[in-house]
Amino acid sequence: MDMNAVEAENLTVLYGGQPALEGLTFNVEEGKTMLLLGPNGAGKTTLLRTIAALHSEYSGKLLVFGEPPHKARDLISYVPQSHSLNERVPLTAMEVVAMGSIYRESFLHFRIPTSAMDKAKEVLGFVGLAGMENRLFRELSGGQKQRVLLARALMSDPRLLLLDEPLSALDPSARVEVTAVLSKIKRERGLTMIITTHDINPLLEIGDRVMLINKRLIEFGKPEEVLRDDVVKSVYGPLARAVKVEGKLFCITGDAHIYHRREEM
Ligand SMILES: Nc1ncnc2c1ncn2[C@@H]1O[C@H](COP(=O)(O)OP(=O)(O)O)[C@@H](O)[C@H]1O
Ligand SMILES: [Mg+2]
Repeated sequence: MDMNAVEAENLTVLYGGQPALEGLTFNVEEGKTMLLLGPNGAGKTTLLRTIAALHSEYSGKLLVFGEPPHKARDLISYVPQSHSLNERVPLTAMEVVAMGSIYRESFLHFRIPTSAMDKAKEVLGFVGLAGMENRLFRELSGGQKQRVLLARALMSDPRLLLLDEPLSALDPSARVEVTAVLSKIKRERGLTMIITTHDINPLLEIGDRVMLINKRLIEFGKPEEVLRDDVVKSVYGPLARAVKVEGKLFCITGDAHIYHRREEM
């Protein structure tokens, strides 16, 4: 039986009574990867944080593995867009990863048990950073840092991984590097992932579903069904395009990014 990792029905999420997301209905089947797209301010981060039980002002139905989000917390890892590590503190890669297991228990007693160190080493290997355990986090490249943060997210053996713009602020080669790790997580661990992204192209290969939102649900389905030219234009503005090159789908939204920035100015 296929199980839904996330199930939302008529989900409305609010801040101080003001809706940021309205009437979303969708589901994400276990083991699938959903790419969550939408312009700035569309509510992508809000949706991830609500699923992660970090924001609770909502109405409608929201279930994570059949439970309300706060009851499914142990099954979820959320990687925010920017990490909150103080880089003046000289933490090693391994310490940052090991923090993933003590995270919930205590910030005060910062003593990492040996078992956590062993596991940290293993997950660092999994993300391709074997041998980098004792390197300082702050001295790593952007792609390596993101892989350390993914390793940290895996420490708690989650079944659902929520990633907010994991490729933003990375150069093209680092994007390839991080996408390869995401692909490996999907393939070898079978995790369900929800990934928000501005630049969808590098992630299209691992996306089973695409959800386009702009406060409301615009489209939800398989990538080739959703990413039609008219749909992409309606979300990202008239300069955006969906094109097929040699049978491969690409979305050009870069111009629209400028378009939205202009609106904000
Ligand atoms: N903590 C907050 N308090 C009030 N409004 C917020 C808060 N966080 C986000 N919002 C509002 O919710 C809407 C969606 O924001 P967000 O989820 O950050 O969008 P996205 O991640 O797609 O850019 C925006 O209008 C934003 O101003
Ligand atoms: Mg956001």
